[in-house]
Amino acid sequence: MNEITASAPGKIILTGEHFVVHGSHSVAAAINKRARVTISPVYKDSYIISGNVKTKMSDNDGKLVLVKAILKNVGKQGNLVDPIAVSVDSEIPPGSGLGSSAAVAVATSAAALKFAGLDPSPRKIFELAMTGEKMVHGNPSGIDVESSLQGGLLLFSRSTGAKSVPLTRTLHFLVVYSGKQRRTSVLVNKVALKQKLFPNFFDSLARSASILSQEVANAATAGDLPRLGAFMNISQAALSWIGVSNDSLDELIEELAGQNVLGAKLTCAGGGGSVIALPKPKAMDMLSKYATKKFSWSFFTAIPQPGLRWEN
Ligand code: PMV
Repeated sequence: MNEITASAPGKIILTGEHFVVHGSHSVAAAINKRARVTISPVYKDSYIISGNVKTKMSDNDGKLVLVKAILKNVGKQGNLVDPIAVSVDSEIPPGSGLGSSAAVAVATSAAALKFAGLDPSPRKIFELAMTGEKMVHGNPSGIDVESSLQGGLLLFSRSTGAKSVPLTRTLHFLVVYSGKQRRTSVLVNKVALKQKLFPNFFDSLARSASILSQEVANAATAGDLPRLGAFMNISQAALSWIGVSNDSLDELIEELAGQNVLGAKLTCAGGGGSVIALPKPKAMDMLSKYATKKFSWSFFTAIPQPGLRWEN
């Protein structure tokens, strides 16, 4: 069997994160940072390597559990010929709120299905990647995996699935990683507690998040950047209320709001992770210089970006 490499992007969420777990619509976009997974045959002892972590497939050492779970699942369906070497190479920092685990899950699922001679259809890849995501996140909505798989800009809900949002112009976002890693499952549980304490108010926020997401999709299609930025700011207020922002994210957002941006908010689970800002079109260069000087890890991403890709 020949070596197989697949790559998949991380993502940002423009609106509706957390509420999407409770059934709201949400809008997410694939970004220009990717995870690559290569599977190749070796002579003995299957292993996985990612950065400076190396683990044998048979070891129960808690390392690279998501990748192991997906490979074991494919193994159960037949034909994953042992022994193999799996190499994971990701540009997306784990715990940064940029969909690192979903990107690794999608690239691993695709590569493993193809390597095993099974059908790597988008549905099969989605289902397999979700088994890995459930191990690390508990109750994932599926938006991370759909974004990574399909790429582009998506309007997603658990009941309607993912719909591609057409764009008439390229969008550009500044992404700033706060440097604080956090676990999505902890924040999802925190929000579930808020819902229990304030069910009616939470429900009205969840319904607004759904409306906001549809408005964001329309504004993106129309290329109406001021409207898109305003919706991002509203979304941040709701996320703050449900307790997933914190002082350092608020400071970061306030600081960005003082620059040439139309909107700024935390993205994805919050509690740390990353912040996104929508620059004024003529201020990209100025903002880029500012961000390079000010933040240790920030980058611009153009939207749309491709989803899953075969690299060989
Ligand atoms: O794990 P993150 O930070 O990429 O965020 C996932 C988005 C949430 O809405 C918080 C959870 C989910 O499964 O939709």
